[in-house]
Amino acid sequence: MTGLGDVTRGRILFGGDYNPEQWPEETWAEDARLMKDAGVNSVTLGVFSWSRLEPRPGAREFGWLDRLMKLMHDNGIGVVLATPTSSPPPWLGRLHPQTLPRDEDGRTEWWGGRQHFSHSSAVYRRHAAAITEDLAARYGGHPALTMWHINNEYCTYDWGDEAAARFRHWLRNRYGTLDAVNSAWGTAFWSQGYGEWEEILPPRRAHYLKNPGQVLDFKRFTSDMLLECYAAERDIVRRHSPHTPVTTNFMPLWAGQDAWRWAEEEDVVSVDLYPDPRDPFGAQHGALVQDMTRSQARGPWMLMEQAAGPVNWRGVNHPKPRGLNRLWSLQAVARGADAVCYFQWRQSRQGAEKFHSGMVGHAGEQGRTYQEVKQLGADLAKIGPHVADTRITADVAVLHDWHSWWAGAQDGRPSTRFDYPDVLHAWHRALWEAHLTTDFAHPEHDLTPYRAVVVPQLYALTDAAIDNLLAYVRGGGTLVCGFLTGVADQDDRIRTGGMDARLRDLFGIRTLHEWWPLEADETAACDGFRGTLWSEEIEPDGTATETLPYKGGELDGLPAVLRKGRAWYVSTLPEPDALRGLLARAAAEAGARPVLDGLPAQVEAVRRGDLLFLLHHGREAVTVPVPGTHHDLLTGRTVTDEVVLGRYGVAVLKP
Ligand code: GAL
Repeated sequence: MTGLGDVTRGRILFGGDYNPEQWPEETWAEDARLMKDAGVNSVTLGVFSWSRLEPRPGAREFGWLDRLMKLMHDNGIGVVLATPTSSPPPWLGRLHPQTLPRDEDGRTEWWGGRQHFSHSSAVYRRHAAAITEDLAARYGGHPALTMWHINNEYCTYDWGDEAAARFRHWLRNRYGTLDAVNSAWGTAFWSQGYGEWEEILPPRRAHYLKNPGQVLDFKRFTSDMLLECYAAERDIVRRHSPHTPVTTNFMPLWAGQDAWRWAEEEDVVSVDLYPDPRDPFGAQHGALVQDMTRSQARGPWMLMEQAAGPVNWRGVNHPKPRGLNRLWSLQAVARGADAVCYFQWRQSRQGAEKFHSGMVGHAGEQGRTYQEVKQLGADLAKIGPHVADTRITADVAVLHDWHSWWAGAQDGRPSTRFDYPDVLHAWHRALWEAHLTTDFAHPEHDLTPYRAVVVPQLYALTDAAIDNLLAYVRGGGTLVCGFLTGVADQDDRIRTGGMDARLRDLFGIRTLHEWWPLEADETAACDGFRGTLWSEEIEPDGTATETLPYKGGELDGLPAVLRKGRAWYVSTLPEPDALRGLLARAAAEAGARPVLDGLPAQVEAVRRGDLLFLLHHGREAVTVPVPGTHHDLLTGRTVTDEVVLGRYGVAVLKP
């Protein structure tokens, strides 16, 4: 088994996507010089190189890549080599139109952009395998090669005919019989019963609401088809270089991929992360994605892409103010990253991303962006030997599951006024602001390492997941569940009584009579706080040990929050301060402690191994009380009992 540790060997990987085919070869030597100067030790090559490597069907042009691999090796820079399969050359689509995906209206996604491939196309898979095979045969033993990167941000859908055939095959494997499909999808409703497999289609454009079971399974199927594409290429590169780790980059909290399942198929888990520099909660979004990626990796992970400055795909694309790139990069390290990389090394001068920043921007070597990148490279070199391969221990786990998200996010639900990711963010933010370190976990994972487990919202839960939660509480764990949890089973079949009976019993609920979703500008007054988004009409069974009631309105006097021993149920989304207070209290009673006491509001603290990271997200200097004497690895100074952090300041303290 290989992993990131085999590549980092006591360093933090630093670098980014390098697309030298966009530049004349004279530039390459300058690239190498600037890379070395900035402490870059890793580049990702070849992500979008298919048409350069195979300009005509079956042709192979490796000479330019040979020269680059050598150049990187000569300069001591490792290469993460990508299979180029996310952007097929135009000839593939022209000669084999069946490789192009169709949207739900049957429209073709043509070449001219990227990711115009159907995961289900046998011809696409064959051509992707062929170029991967030759790439792996040629470079599998190259001394510059450190890691394989398969494809890029797998994220395509296909509603076409070949996808339809594979969907049926997938359903046969999952359910065995057509009767079982009909039962899982509840096709007795609206005369949807299937008599022949051939009648089953991907959920294409329909007149009115689509069958939710069909939509749910199509999402599962899509994730599985992309995973098949990934695994096929991974197996090829592994055959040629069994000791080189393999990764593919996730998009954060991307709806199209069950990343829990995918992570099990990777040697290194990597993610692309682009918080908006203007988002007041950008740092918390970063922390959430970092916690989730670390949990998927079960250890150190790779920040495959971030932006050194602005991106080009928001309405308004803000640059990073001075210091922010360093702060957010070190935040990733604090939360377990052993690789800090960017899209991309040199900012393009042409093409769709010419306004997207690079580590070397259009302003060049003297530009602020490159100068800050260089500073970061020096910082990472200082802390690397102390950080790489060390672990983070979290007392609290946040549960998340893609299947529940997919089941709960469909049309025709009680309220479309909230999104699952927003609820997840709100709960994670409460814990982040309370300075509690969190892992993420799947509802069927072993939860016993955690003092407290929170469930922001798991609309659909399998029986195994419910058993797991019950066993966790029985074993002494503290569980806090948010609204609309445990409502449906794995087929999106409603569990009667408003919530699974075992969970109702756990929280002291006799019946959940109705959901009372709230309008965007509406709140529900509760004892001591206000609820947002949602409220519920709950009849308690009298066994709860504590309740906080709704005040006024239709639900006056009914419990908004119930607690029965160590199991809490929160039937609304409390406003941020209240949610933070509630979760901090439940966590404290469970014995989970904040990383440090007395932290100023804008300072984030994380312990990694024996190091204490302090990250200041504000611009005014603050003094952070830190009892004892520490050595700051970044400044080289000794600090006693307090640390002063300036604008976006960071300290990495070693006892
Ligand atoms: C990622 C992608 C990169 C680049 C980047 C821009 O989604 O993997 O190739 O497009 O976004 O932010």
